[in-house]
Amino acid sequence: MIHLITGIHGFAGSHLADLLVKKGEQVCGLAHSLDNDQNIAHLGNKIKVYQADICDRLQVEQVLDSVRPTAIYHLAGMSYVPATVDSAMFDSHFRGTLNLLESAKELKLKAKTLWVGSSEEYGLIKQGNGLVDECHPLSPLSLYGVSKSSAEMLANSYHERGDLEVIRVRPFNHIGPRQKSRFVVSSFARQIVEIEAGKEPILKVGNLNSERDFTDVRDTVRAYLSVMNVGQSGDVFNVCSGKTKKISSLLGNLIEQAQVEIKVESEEEHFRPNIPVSLAGDFTKLQAATGWRPEISLEASLGDTLTYWREKLS
Ligand code: GDD
Repeated sequence: MIHLITGIHGFAGSHLADLLVKKGEQVCGLAHSLDNDQNIAHLGNKIKVYQADICDRLQVEQVLDSVRPTAIYHLAGMSYVPATVDSAMFDSHFRGTLNLLESAKELKLKAKTLWVGSSEEYGLIKQGNGLVDECHPLSPLSLYGVSKSSAEMLANSYHERGDLEVIRVRPFNHIGPRQKSRFVVSSFARQIVEIEAGKEPILKVGNLNSERDFTDVRDTVRAYLSVMNVGQSGDVFNVCSGKTKKISSLLGNLIEQAQVEIKVESEEEHFRPNIPVSLAGDFTKLQAATGWRPEISLEASLGDTLTYWREKLS
């Protein structure tokens, strides 16, 4: 098997590369630039990375033709939900998907593709509805969610027309080492480590009452591999823990692991309007198909994220 990961330099992409290399697989990556490779530098020449802009059809096609992958994991995209909205997000998610799948079709690749979406595609879940399963209508609130769900329809149309084998996943929040510090857990962990290093002991937070479903990124990418092994084209799977966690409890756990006293202050700029208060997923379908379940506890994941920032900032 030849595996191609788009977005290999990113958070999930780099952990997926680690897992595949550990299994002795042949791994190639597509990255927007060959710089910023700190997440995969430790893999050295065990992987081969190609430079291409996912929004450039010709560049994408050239990489696919050089690699001729048998498995494609499409992780390239913009992952920060409240990012300023301009056409870049829609370009990278929609046009990126189009470029990748259209190129794979034109090149007649015999590759299975994993298209990676987001729980943000579900949008507002009415309180009391319980866990969201894959049959829940997609009704995104954020433009990020809209860009992902429109790209998901596009991806699935390649399956519907019989052009390519495409499996879709909708991961909920995933956390762990290497995540950028604008995401909630990494933001808190990084601030704690900076305070431990002598910065003013004030940790700035947004809405601590919102609840999300958190999975360690290493479990998330293990789910991606399981799905590629046994999933059928046209399938769609949630990847999640099935539990809600209040942001305040994550913060409490991280502060307990801190080596200094910390004061918490909320900051208006971190509050987001029009977002679901609570969002958690049902992974029954994924478990039934693959046997997958999360293995890394939330506490371990938070601890590893703190360790990551302690090492990175030391
Ligand atoms: N970033 C951030 N910073 N979020 C905060 C903060 C803060 O200081 N305080 C509270 N929050 C709350 C946010 O309001 C949100 O409800 C929750 O923490 C999680 O925020 P993020 O970590 O930024 O993640 P996200 O839910 O917006 O998006 C992540 O998960 C999606 C899947 O559900 C990203 O990984 C997306 O790429 C992914 O699709």
